[in-house]
Amino acid sequence: MPRYVFASILIVLLSCQKDQRTTCDSNLFLRDVAPFSVGTTDDNILVTWGDQTSGKHFNRISTENILKMENMMPRKDSFNFWRIAWMAREAMNSKFTELHAHPVIWHNQIPDWLPQLPPDELKDLMLKYCNAYRGNLEAYSQFVAITGIDVVNEALNEDGSLRRSFWYEAMGRDYIRLAFQEFSGMNPETKLFYNDYNLALNPKKLDAALDLCDWLRSAGVRIDGIGMQMHIDIHEPSQVDIAAAFQKIIDRGYMVHVSELDVSINPRNTETSATPALLSKQADVYAGIFRLYNQLPKKYRYGITVWGYSDAESWIQNKYQRFDAPLLLDVAGMKKPAYCACLNTLNK
Ligand code: XIL
Repeated sequence: MPRYVFASILIVLLSCQKDQRTTCDSNLFLRDVAPFSVGTTDDNILVTWGDQTSGKHFNRISTENILKMENMMPRKDSFNFWRIAWMAREAMNSKFTELHAHPVIWHNQIPDWLPQLPPDELKDLMLKYCNAYRGNLEAYSQFVAITGIDVVNEALNEDGSLRRSFWYEAMGRDYIRLAFQEFSGMNPETKLFYNDYNLALNPKKLDAALDLCDWLRSAGVRIDGIGMQMHIDIHEPSQVDIAAAFQKIIDRGYMVHVSELDVSINPRNTETSATPALLSKQADVYAGIFRLYNQLPKKYRYGITVWGYSDAESWIQNKYQRFDAPLLLDVAGMKKPAYCACLNTLNK
């Protein structure tokens, strides 16, 4: 056979193989093939996409902004739980069966007046807030299973030290213990998480997160798992680093939540469109994470939450003011190569 014929056949075969990896049956959905929960976020998802559409792909919905303090307490001592109450009721009428509550205590997206409170008042308010948060979620669990809560978010610096937030300045590291303590007595089916970013990229930070969790356990409060935010890109972290981080977490006895997954295709702002090559690279990264996660023992898998429904709602473009397409569904809500690659990886 002439060499050029052989080469052409090889190219055709290879491209077919690629197609198979990144295309899939339009009637197959991630939530139906995943042996663990798959989540999405977007406070308006039920309105913009409709519950039957969005809940078709994912079984879990995570709050994106409605439970952040700037929305929860625009005024001192009055807490606005109506948005989450609405979401829990809507979830009940939709295909979503699980709700993840994010976050409780964080230093960002807070009302202006909050950090200025004197330490004693801040502590009182935090305890009151946690108590009300817990009570409301317990009440809403009649509508939808509240499977988890990010009790404390982003308490660590990149060097592993504790962030000098206004919470820390007022109470030292004890604010973290106090917050978890308020939730410890909840139904054990509601898992309690410490949630942070760069944990796969930065082993020092992951070690510090694990030490923090061990300290909480030794202080007698409940913490079930670690949320790895995973706002990553097509270049890093490597699959080896991700696998090592998963392993480290489960070796120390904590569940793993891949909690805020998005994979940027344009981290250096050098791209202007989602080319097939970039989408294929993105598919490899997503599928690799789903494959590694699927290999973890069941009892450590809380689930994977993608941080947004479609590329039209992702926070990345806004935050970094650049073109990007970091999610599993495109702006029209159609499955991207990454979606099919994850689905095919799980469906093998
Ligand atoms: C983001 C939301 O997605 C955006 O809509 C909002 O403008 C900013 O916050 N870490 C977190 C999330 O824990 O709550 C953040 O969500 C992204 C970074």
